[in-house]
Amino acid sequence: MVDVYAIIGKFYEHGSDLERVLVGHSRQVTDMAIAICERLKSRGEAVDEQFVREAAMLHDIGIVRTNARGIYCVGTEPYICHGMIGRQMLEELGLFRHALVCERHTGAGLAREEIERAGFPLPHRDMLPISIEERIICYADKFFSKTHVGEPPKPLERVRQKMLSYGEGSLARFDAMHAEFSLS
Ligand SMILES: [Fe+2]
Repeated sequence: MVDVYAIIGKFYEHGSDLERVLVGHSRQVTDMAIAICERLKSRGEAVDEQFVREAAMLHDIGIVRTNARGIYCVGTEPYICHGMIGRQMLEELGLFRHALVCERHTGAGLAREEIERAGFPLPHRDMLPISIEERIICYADKFFSKTHVGEPPKPLERVRQKMLSYGEGSLARFDAMHAEFSLS
C-alpha cells in the first residue's frame, strides 16, 4: 500500500495554497473514481479499487513543476506537460503503474497525432489510458476543476465541449468512457 500523503509531502509544502488545490482536486477525483469502482464491482467487474484510490490521489502530482500561476504552480514547464512530469516523478519512486496514470490522464488521453497536430511540447507517442483503472481516473478527472476546487462536478455538456476542443477523437474516447462509467 502506498502512503500518498507522504509522497505528496515530498514535493508540496504542507499548508500551502498549491497543496490545498492538489489535495482538494485529487480527493474529488478519487471520490468519483471510487464510486465508479463500487458500481462496476456490484456488476461483477474486476477493478483494483485500492490502486485507483492511490493513483487518483497522485495523478496530478506533476503540476508542481509547471507554470500555472492561477493555481499556484510556479515551476518552469508548460502545464500540458504535468502528466509526463508526474510519470517521471513517480517512476523515480518506483511507482511504475501509478506513473502511467499520470501520463495518460490528460484530456481523454492524447493520441500521438493529436499531440503532433496541436503542437504540444510532448514526446510524439500515444498517451492514452488503457487499463480500466487508468480509464476510470481519466474519466473522473474531467469533471473537476483545479481553479474551483470543491465545486460540484461540471455539467456533462461542458466536459464534452472541452474534449471536442482537443479533437473529434478525444470526444469519441470520452463518450465511450461515459457510456461505460457514468454514475447517472
Ligand atoms: Fe486532475
